[in-house]
Amino acid sequence: MAEHTKEISKANEALRLNKLQYKETKYKPLYHFSAPSGWINDPNGFIQYKDQYHLFYQHHPYSSDWGPMHWGHATSDDLINWNHESVALAPTEDYDRDGCFSGSAIEKDGTLYLMYTGHTWTGENHDEDLKQVQCLAKSEDGINFNKIKGNPVIDQPNFESVHPNHVRDPKIWMKNNTYYCVIGSKNRDNVGQVIMYESKDLKEWEFVNVITKGEGNAGFMWECPDLFHSNGKDVLIYSPQGVKPEGCLYHNLHQSGYVVGDLDYQTGEFEHDAFQLLDYGFDFYAPQTLIDGSGRRILIAWMNMWESEMPEKEEGWAGAFTLPRELKIENQRLIIQPIVEVKELRTDRVNYNNLLINELKEIKGVNGQTIEIDLIVDMKNADLFGMKLCTNSEMTEKTMIQYRKSKEKLMLNRDKSGKGPIGERAAFVKLKDNRLHLNIFLDYSSLEVFINHGEKVMSARIYPDKLSDRILFFSDNDTELVKLEKWKMGQKI
Ligand code: FRU
Repeated sequence: MAEHTKEISKANEALRLNKLQYKETKYKPLYHFSAPSGWINDPNGFIQYKDQYHLFYQHHPYSSDWGPMHWGHATSDDLINWNHESVALAPTEDYDRDGCFSGSAIEKDGTLYLMYTGHTWTGENHDEDLKQVQCLAKSEDGINFNKIKGNPVIDQPNFESVHPNHVRDPKIWMKNNTYYCVIGSKNRDNVGQVIMYESKDLKEWEFVNVITKGEGNAGFMWECPDLFHSNGKDVLIYSPQGVKPEGCLYHNLHQSGYVVGDLDYQTGEFEHDAFQLLDYGFDFYAPQTLIDGSGRRILIAWMNMWESEMPEKEEGWAGAFTLPRELKIENQRLIIQPIVEVKELRTDRVNYNNLLINELKEIKGVNGQTIEIDLIVDMKNADLFGMKLCTNSEMTEKTMIQYRKSKEKLMLNRDKSGKGPIGERAAFVKLKDNRLHLNIFLDYSSLEVFINHGEKVMSARIYPDKLSDRILFFSDNDTELVKLEKWKMGQKI
């Protein structure tokens, strides 16, 4: 325990010094959660505990590259204004020596428990030589955490149906006085799957089953599962590695999506529909959800992708999260919208109605890099409508959103966005009464596009020049901006 306290102080001090060293920033988001300094990846332990929201995350406090994983921590009253707290977990024990990997949180009798994966390398081959066990840490004040004596609470599995080395990212919940957790894994033939355990007291766990596994092009390993009940259905979220591109789908290195069905708690079998993506952009991985006091299911995800170039590293930090998104299930699909609290950030509203677009057009007051736009477009006779965001004065730098009616496709292109990775992603989108709805959030180095009131979302990190703040609209024939609202977003974080 003394060792853990020492390592936590060391990590906090490293973060403090690092922040002093890097003062200038071009890319740090204004109203999205991002690394205080150093590296972050997956959100972890996302929970409302004693009326406060807690967000933990995979964190390397000593550099802006991935390294031995700690858990960073922030708290908030509204999911928008975050206070950075002390680092919560550091790798110090034999069972987590090489990293406190992803996991989740639960409250039991007023105590906050974190369940995480203790990770150790057992050889040179980092794809195969690993040992992963599940561990608990607890806190009475929600800030200082102690690992429990009985760790690990789930040892390496020893079943024919589960690969013994790849078992990580427990997501825990309670139902009918029993605790359950789903864990990401694969079988011995390298097929991704999710396994489930149950427990009466959080400490003794029993294996229930492989609740579902991949068929066909479903990836070699499934990470970061999350399971919840909503509107009479069970939803399983997971992040498969190794799914191959199919048409305009699955072009990111790894994917994140969900299946909807019914979990049989007795047999541990999960009957479900086909896999659907949670986000059709470039940068979205390892999402985690919580249910809050008002019954809302809220998701937050890492808004980066493994192995992508991250130009923010030169500023001493790496990694940002999406806006918190509320999930609702309708007709076996998730409707995904920014949480209503985001509206509190709106300032300086600019509003237009019934504007005709038939050539490249700039609209007075509609520009900026930390803005929200809410737009309804009537496609009229046009086949193509588009926007160039974050455009510089010479129009050489731009990030493009285009809708092609004949293909029913929305495309997001970052080939000319500035620094960082390039490419195009597309999503199939049908018009409603010949209209397209876009709710767009720009925050210096990120772009999120919510389509048709949450039917689909596309997220991307982009790295434009600070001066590239023009926005241009275009179409190949008459289109009408039935409604265009734009806000400057206020600083909250
Ligand atoms: C997902 C992941 C998890 C693991 C963590 C390590 O992005 O690979 O499976 O626990 O990151 O940082």
